[in-house]
Amino acid sequence: MIFSCSVFHRTYLLNNTFIQLCSEIGALSVACRLKTGLRRKTMMELKIQLVPTGEIILPPGKNGESYCQNCSKAVGSDGVRVMMESALTARDRVGVQDFVLLENHTSEVAFIENLRKRFKENLIYTYIGSVLVSVNPYKELEIYTKQHMERYRGVNFYEVSPHIYAVSDNAYRSMRTERRDQCILISGESGAGKTEASKKILQYYAVTCPASEQVQIVKDRLLQSNPVLEAFGNAKTLRNDNSSRFGKYMDIQFDFRGAPVGGHILNYLLEKSRVVHQNHGERNFHIFYQLIEGGEEDLLRRLGLERNTQQYQYLVKGNCPKVSSINDRNDWKVVRKALSVIGFNEDEVEELLNIIASVLHLGNVQFGAEESGNAYITTDTQIKYLARLIGVEGSVLKEALTHKKIIAKGEELMSPLNLEQAASARDALSKAIYGRTFTWLVNKINLSLAYKDELYPANKNASVIGLLDIYGFEVFQQNSFEQFCINYCNEKLQQLFIELTLKSEQEEYEAEGITWEPVQFFNNKIICDLVEEKFKGIISILDEECLRPGDASDLTFLEKLESTLGGHAHFVTHKLADGKTRKVMGREEFRLLHYAGEVNYNVNGFLDKNNDLLFRNLKEIMCRSENKILTQCFDREELTDKKRPETAATQFKNSLTKLMEILMSKEPSYVRCIKPNDAKQAGRFDEVLIRHQVKYLGLMENLRVRRAGFAYRRRYEIFLQRYKSLCPETWPNWKGRLADGVSTLVKHLGYKPEEYKMGRSKIFIRFPKTLFATEDALEVRKHSLATKLQACWRGYNQRSKYLKMRQSAILIQAWWRGILARREAKRRRAAANTIRRFIKGFIYRKQPRCPENEYFLDYVRYSFLMNLWRNVPKTVLDKSWPMPPPALAEASEQLRNLCMQNLVWTYCKRINPEWKHQLEQKALASDIFKDKKDNYPQSVPKLFVSTRLSLDEINPKVMQALGNEKMKYAVPVTKYDRNGYRARPRQLLLTANYAVIVEDGKLKQRIDYSALKGISVSSLSDGLFVLHVPCEDNKQKGDVVLQSDHVIETLTKVAICADKINSINISQGSIKFAVGRGKEGFIDFTPGSELVITKAKNGHLSVTAPRLNSR
Ligand SMILES: Nc1ncnc2c1ncn2[C@@H]1O[C@H](COP(=O)(O)OP(=O)(O)O)[C@@H](O)[C@H]1O
Ligand SMILES: [Mg+2]
Repeated sequence: MIFSCSVFHRTYLLNNTFIQLCSEIGALSVACRLKTGLRRKTMMELKIQLVPTGEIILPPGKNGESYCQNCSKAVGSDGVRVMMESALTARDRVGVQDFVLLENHTSEVAFIENLRKRFKENLIYTYIGSVLVSVNPYKELEIYTKQHMERYRGVNFYEVSPHIYAVSDNAYRSMRTERRDQCILISGESGAGKTEASKKILQYYAVTCPASEQVQIVKDRLLQSNPVLEAFGNAKTLRNDNSSRFGKYMDIQFDFRGAPVGGHILNYLLEKSRVVHQNHGERNFHIFYQLIEGGEEDLLRRLGLERNTQQYQYLVKGNCPKVSSINDRNDWKVVRKALSVIGFNEDEVEELLNIIASVLHLGNVQFGAEESGNAYITTDTQIKYLARLIGVEGSVLKEALTHKKIIAKGEELMSPLNLEQAASARDALSKAIYGRTFTWLVNKINLSLAYKDELYPANKNASVIGLLDIYGFEVFQQNSFEQFCINYCNEKLQQLFIELTLKSEQEEYEAEGITWEPVQFFNNKIICDLVEEKFKGIISILDEECLRPGDASDLTFLEKLESTLGGHAHFVTHKLADGKTRKVMGREEFRLLHYAGEVNYNVNGFLDKNNDLLFRNLKEIMCRSENKILTQCFDREELTDKKRPETAATQFKNSLTKLMEILMSKEPSYVRCIKPNDAKQAGRFDEVLIRHQVKYLGLMENLRVRRAGFAYRRRYEIFLQRYKSLCPETWPNWKGRLADGVSTLVKHLGYKPEEYKMGRSKIFIRFPKTLFATEDALEVRKHSLATKLQACWRGYNQRSKYLKMRQSAILIQAWWRGILARREAKRRRAAANTIRRFIKGFIYRKQPRCPENEYFLDYVRYSFLMNLWRNVPKTVLDKSWPMPPPALAEASEQLRNLCMQNLVWTYCKRINPEWKHQLEQKALASDIFKDKKDNYPQSVPKLFVSTRLSLDEINPKVMQALGNEKMKYAVPVTKYDRNGYRARPRQLLLTANYAVIVEDGKLKQRIDYSALKGISVSSLSDGLFVLHVPCEDNKQKGDVVLQSDHVIETLTKVAICADKINSINISQGSIKFAVGRGKEGFIDFTPGSELVITKAKNGHLSVTAPRLNSR
């Protein structure tokens, strides 16, 4: 996955958001993203990246794929990875970039020659395995740009040229992948570049780690804590213009996404003595100069300061006000800005500066001596300023500076101080104020860097990378207590290095049963013991002298040392030394043979500095200060606490022990800084100085162990756990012995026998390359694992979803079926009830209405009404009507009537006058003939006409004769003579007042209606009828016998015209009629088969009429 990683990181340049996103979702998903389609795309974008050194130039090929210029291997197809090592430029490959590759690895000369070659080419970094050796270039190199950082991100460190970023990235990745806290130990003597290296590391994390808005604040604060701490804790020394005068161990805390979320700083023993005294050519802490040079006029006025460092006693001792490499004015601005980034408000800054100014004023407080020798203060202005700045009463301060409070027999006495005592009391106060303020400052920074749990509630266990930048080994002309402590600290660190890289490594090989040729090295434990051993160590002896009642002094301390340690191989004094050494040693000095060289320490001030005492009354006055920072620094409890505080050396020793514990608990990476010359000059390679450092840093031994040893080791279970997925036999679980599992695994991976060794509980891998190849394989494997995981997870997810849905569906179905079944049951129950009621009702139907039958009756009633509603007659002629149940007979009848009335009424409303007239006539005909005359039914459908003869058919003479009389009806008839019954055709005309019988234009007979006595007609189907007229009238010759084909119509018309409805006689048998005066005739009617009208033998007219309707 090396290649993918590099692709991935180059992508960052092009697609920042993507990477940020990727880092946030975690490495596994990144891998997936890369696999799915992104690879090709990024390849296209990978074109050229120009970085000043060690660049890899990848011009795009024809099809967009990239080729590495140096190795000409196609990049991009799976499995082919750019061996960046071979892609390093010629310049990068000056000498060897890893001393392990030196042909003559035991030769110090070759070692130094390699360093020199690279140094000349500005290649300041070289590895010994994983240890980085860095030579201070003393000039700005273009190797710390953002591009460089990107280039080292996520790349295994043998792939790119050695760099502090590679070490940083390696530690970061180890932290993330192995979830183990890391620490980076930077060592080297003063001015070798430790602080610079630690800053570079911090910057690297700040730029390359994923960041959110919250994290950005933390990053800024982490970065900005540096200038503040440097201003207050660094100073120009002879060795280094920006020498750290305190030890610093900083924890950077990372959350699970790898984003820095907090930090914590531990500070170690600040060189307080520098506040009051500096060696020649050295300066006080930077902040004093920065304030005076850079402080605004206003501010200086408020603080009572002048813009002239020469005015201040504490700044003139070293006689070095200006340093060419330092711009105090600019630094002041940087510090002010940093303070506000860290979260100092204006008031706090003001109070802090008040303290810095008051230290300067304190330095200027001068004393005179009275005759008695008692000191008094000669500089009142200073006291005035001090009183205001610290917020104490001037007179009290004055007294406190010149007196000492003694408690004798429970009484407090003020004992005056002499000139010397007063000056040292003043200096003690200055040191105490400055020292404690510095500690307060560190605490304040820690508060602002604190990992705020509530912001990241899910990340309780953040991983940590610790950065140790502590003062380097120091040798001056005059070395004092501070140098003693500093060099002791360096001994301890060297001891740790030896423990972890030389001693324990070799011990481990032995313990693990690896055949091993021991490498000899100098173990400095003997020096550590010389300093720190209980009872016999220098610190113990010093403490003892400090606590001892009586006239203990620095010299008695020296004597004690001589008597206790005389004869120790690493300890010499003037008295104990041989003649040659004696020449270069003062009588007040003792010499320690440190791992890094010999140092003469002057015992002057050792006791005082170790006691670090401040007169009680000075402490009291500080407790009463109105300055908020000072009240926090000087706790009142301290005044009442009777216990003697631990001495400075013991405190330091204890804090170092704790530091060692912290470092031991983490996985270390080393940066060994080398100083190329004492003159801080660029390009000068002082071979003697460098050889000395190479020697005491134990680099050669380190190299030898490295060459013979193994780059990497892991306990079997951890190794197996991490890589087991790379071998089918060990994946997913190995059941047998761990060693067998690892052995199977590495064989499967194709490890060659010389590449690894199997120990008792660990596997040892000789070359980093082998491990990195395995890591690559794991990266590749992660893709398929991720895919598998994804698939399993998706499957599981979908199945759970499916099961849930199925469950829900079943539930819904069950409910729905329940509802349906209940509905059905209800319906059936209701149906059964209905049937039951119906049957019961049927049984009781004849009973009066009672509960048993009411349903049935209602139902019958209802169904009758519904039936009626559906089948109600639509026309008057429709006589149908449903059969009502007995209970409704009456109602039915009424309804029927109503219905009929309604139908009739509707019918009548629609009828026209002609039809009405017709019907009236028909009704009349019905009244007269219905059921009486046989041919009546046949006449019903035939409409009555207004006349059977048109005017053309009637002789006009007749019409004339009628005169005004209007003709109402005319019909052709047959007249039968009264005597012979001869049939003669005639016309019968009806007018309003009479009827006339017409024969061809002659009015043969007129019958007035008034004279018409009656009309007779047979009940048979014949058309004969007799008009009876009075016989008395002469004009009348008797009744008239006529025959009409439309007998019903004709007679009806006659009845209407003559108003003789009731005068029509329908005879059943014979009709008698009058023939002239006194004589009578008869017409006999008999039913027969056809109509025959003849004169019968008896003289009657015989009519045989067919029977049309059987009655
Ligand atoms: N990597 C570097 N590049 C350029 N200059 C450096 C580098 N490292 C150190 N220096 C120079 O050396 C000086 C001393 O380095 P510093 O880190 O303060 O030393 P130390 O902390 O080891 O005493 C710095 O002020 C700087 O000028
Ligand atoms: Mg430093």
